[in-house]
Amino acid sequence: MDKLVIEGGSRLAGEVRISGAKNAALPILCAALLSTEPLVLENVPDLNDIGTMLALLAQMGVRVTREGSTVSLDASTLDNPTAPYEMVKTMRASILVLGPLVARCGIAKVSLPGGCAIGARPVDQHIKGLQAMGAEVSVEHGYVQARVSQLKGARLFTDMVTVTGTENLMMAACLADGETVIENAAREPEVVDLAQCLSAMGARISGAGTDVIRIRGVDRLHGARHRIMPDRIETGTFLCAAAATGGEVRLLGTSTGYLDAVVDKLMDAGCDIVSEKTPQHEAIVLRAPARLKAVSIRTSPYPAFPTDMQAQFMAINCVAEGSAVIRETIFENRFMHAVELIRLGADIKIDGNTAFVTGVQRLQGATVMATDLRASASLVVAGLVAEGETHVERIYHLDRGYEHIEAKLTGLGARIRREKA
Ligand code: UD1
Repeated sequence: MDKLVIEGGSRLAGEVRISGAKNAALPILCAALLSTEPLVLENVPDLNDIGTMLALLAQMGVRVTREGSTVSLDASTLDNPTAPYEMVKTMRASILVLGPLVARCGIAKVSLPGGCAIGARPVDQHIKGLQAMGAEVSVEHGYVQARVSQLKGARLFTDMVTVTGTENLMMAACLADGETVIENAAREPEVVDLAQCLSAMGARISGAGTDVIRIRGVDRLHGARHRIMPDRIETGTFLCAAAATGGEVRLLGTSTGYLDAVVDKLMDAGCDIVSEKTPQHEAIVLRAPARLKAVSIRTSPYPAFPTDMQAQFMAINCVAEGSAVIRETIFENRFMHAVELIRLGADIKIDGNTAFVTGVQRLQGATVMATDLRASASLVVAGLVAEGETHVERIYHLDRGYEHIEAKLTGLGARIRREKA
């Protein structure tokens, strides 16, 4: 198992290119299941989660080819609408094949994803929505089994805002008979990117990006070419890393438009952030003060502050001036990084879903363990500002969602290397 060894204390400076968004690419890869014609996707990041999804689609009979960051998917040969436990257990987002499979094949067998470190994360809303569209859905032997002769448009209301739930139901509704209305829909930019790809394939969708999405079903979708949006969480993570080190960076191929809540908080912390936009080029420039001011955050669905940036903000608050209150409202167990940050000398007290962080002058390097994807990112940010060496173990979590992270950070002047643990 690999680990990252970080020697803290370098100020990050320079330019780095932001990759395509993992959370947009995953549902959009599944959209290929809806058509018998090829879907060509550009700016697909090279990540373990993407590899898992491509392997899952391939074992269903989809022909997958990859050249650099361009992936072509041809689902005309789809013959096995099944997602086995062995593949699903490593990646919850595999549930995103359910909606497209039922819509296209009228049958699907998809393993339940099970729990994950950050919380129970059930898929009841995905199932409830498909049932409202006329599918017979049962959960047997750990598998969601769905069957329908033809999905029917319906009015769907989810009990909570769910990102992959909205995406699954939006994809299913594209081939349903009649109009589907998803109320309480997720407004995340990745939902909008998926809607744009589906529209390019011939789907009739309006309202993506608001909490009411309307989909008028069509008989078939055709092939298309689509470019995946930039990864707003990778963007936010690099902004935090640079900010914590008092750095100055230019992030290429990304935009502040996707992360107003994060940018606002970094400005409150004392950073100067400017967007650059020309017809050829988009970038974000951040200049950080020598020491940040502590900033309180509360996670909520988009456009509020993203839960996927909570851990990184906990890390920057650990060395900021003053105290911050961090409230996590999306996942019930998403403070596992706190105990690891405390091992680095952070002053954090947890009470239920609230963390109280008081900034210290400096953290000290130690061995810490990554527990989930974004927790890992927070440990890297903390390692960059800790005195001496920090060893981050179990970085397979990090490889699920950050493309070439140590190479990108090295390019900005960090002293970081990968070693066998
Ligand atoms: C997506 C993101 C993930 C992000 C999360 C919240 C992808 C691939 N992953 O995950 O990075 O952290 O949104 O922004 O896009 N819930 C239910 N029943 C359901 C569905 C959800 O109870 O059927 C609950 C979840 O347990 C959670 C909340 O709803 O407490 C929101 O989860 P959801 O938006 O569905 O997260 P994901 O789509 O899995």
